Amino acid sequence: MAILVTGGAGYIGSHTCVELLNAGYEIVVVDNLATSSSESLRRVRELSGKDFKFYQIDLLNREDLEIVFKQNKIEAVIHFAGLKAVGESVRLPLRYYHNNITGTLVLCELMQEYGVKRIVFSSSATVYGISEHVPISEDAPLGATNAYGRTKLMIEEIMQDMYVSDPIWSIAILRYFNPIGAHSSGRIGEDPNGIPNNLMPYITQVAAGGLKELQIYGNDYPTLDGTGVRDYIHVVDLAQGHLKALEKVMSTTGVEAYNLGTGQGYSVVEMVAAFERVTGRRIPYKMTDRRPGDIGICYSNPTKAERELGWIAEKGIDEMCLDAWRWQSNNPHGFQEEDNLLVESNIS
Ligand code: NAD
Ligand code: UFG
Repeated sequence: MAILVTGGAGYIGSHTCVELLNAGYEIVVVDNLATSSSESLRRVRELSGKDFKFYQIDLLNREDLEIVFKQNKIEAVIHFAGLKAVGESVRLPLRYYHNNITGTLVLCELMQEYGVKRIVFSSSATVYGISEHVPISEDAPLGATNAYGRTKLMIEEIMQDMYVSDPIWSIAILRYFNPIGAHSSGRIGEDPNGIPNNLMPYITQVAAGGLKELQIYGNDYPTLDGTGVRDYIHVVDLAQGHLKALEKVMSTTGVEAYNLGTGQGYSVVEMVAAFERVTGRRIPYKMTDRRPGDIGICYSNPTKAERELGWIAEKGIDEMCLDAWRWQSNNPHGFQEEDNLLVESNIS
């Protein structure tokens, strides 16, 4: 029996695959490599010392995906596959709705057909929209502010309906706060395409000299130093949360949402200071206007996950910064090997 991991070649998926393999699970990975590289999976094998099947398949292709269910005995699914760039989702909403929602529908239809009714789904704190109160608990009002967020909200609702229609379903909806950091080996990590949108990969690229300076989006929020506050969570802690959620869906039925965060908020300026302190690198920055659509403060109440899953985030921001930096400095071009880059530049 195997765990099907969709989107397993991506940032959070690859870290979760390592944890699953280390814990003795058999896994099967499906990914179309739209925003990732098979090199991450090669390194997952290297880190875990274990092999697994990989299908380069688009979830939108039902026939291809059905082969995975035919060829393997799947007992549960961890569903990471999706597009996640907020700005892009505003420009290309149909692409996001089609990829994220239709992809999930095709997956869940096949799960239903093959009697696989346990799923752990990657949702996001973005489903809380502009939240009035912090810390944010799972029963806070929901409402997304962009197409990406609405795909997550709609999928959550679809999953609620699946459970209502058939109470054999067992569904854990995981609402991640801000995942950062990397595996402590420095072999896998976040590999954004182009200029990063998110804070930590931007900081690490400034530290590496690839980007000149960080722009801090707004210093007039009602926070300690005026800059935005977020709940940063180490990606390995997050990955371990998936194993706990998997244990839960294996042992019960129902549909439950869980915040995965630390419960602690840090401002942009605090993150920059922590990064500088633990890495010894200087991060030049300048204050600019607020980024449209940003909220001031967002951090979780993670006690439901602790109570019901027995999970708690253990790693602090120093470790998050150090691991993010180790990954960046060991892999200046992400998963693209230096040799390949040289070959490419010779060709052009
Ligand atoms: P990622 O882009 O690194 O990984 C997503 C993976 O899904 C990629 O490998 C991509 O190739 C694959 N994929 C996308 N569409 C697919 C399709 N139709 N068929 C097959 N594979 C497909 O992103 P990540 O940061 O690892 O995020 C994983 C999940 O967590 C996503 O669903 C994302 O929305 C969610 N999430 C991420 C964050 C974050 O800040 N990283 C926060 C909240 C939620
Ligand atoms: N920030 C900067 N400069 C940058 C990038 C970010 O000042 O170059 C600030 C932002 O204004 C914010 C904080 O750093 O205050 C964190 O920003 P990120 O872009 O790293 O993260 P967000 O909280 O804005 O968004 C993330 C994911 C979304 C997800 C959301 C809620 O990128 O996909 O968390 O889970 F929806």
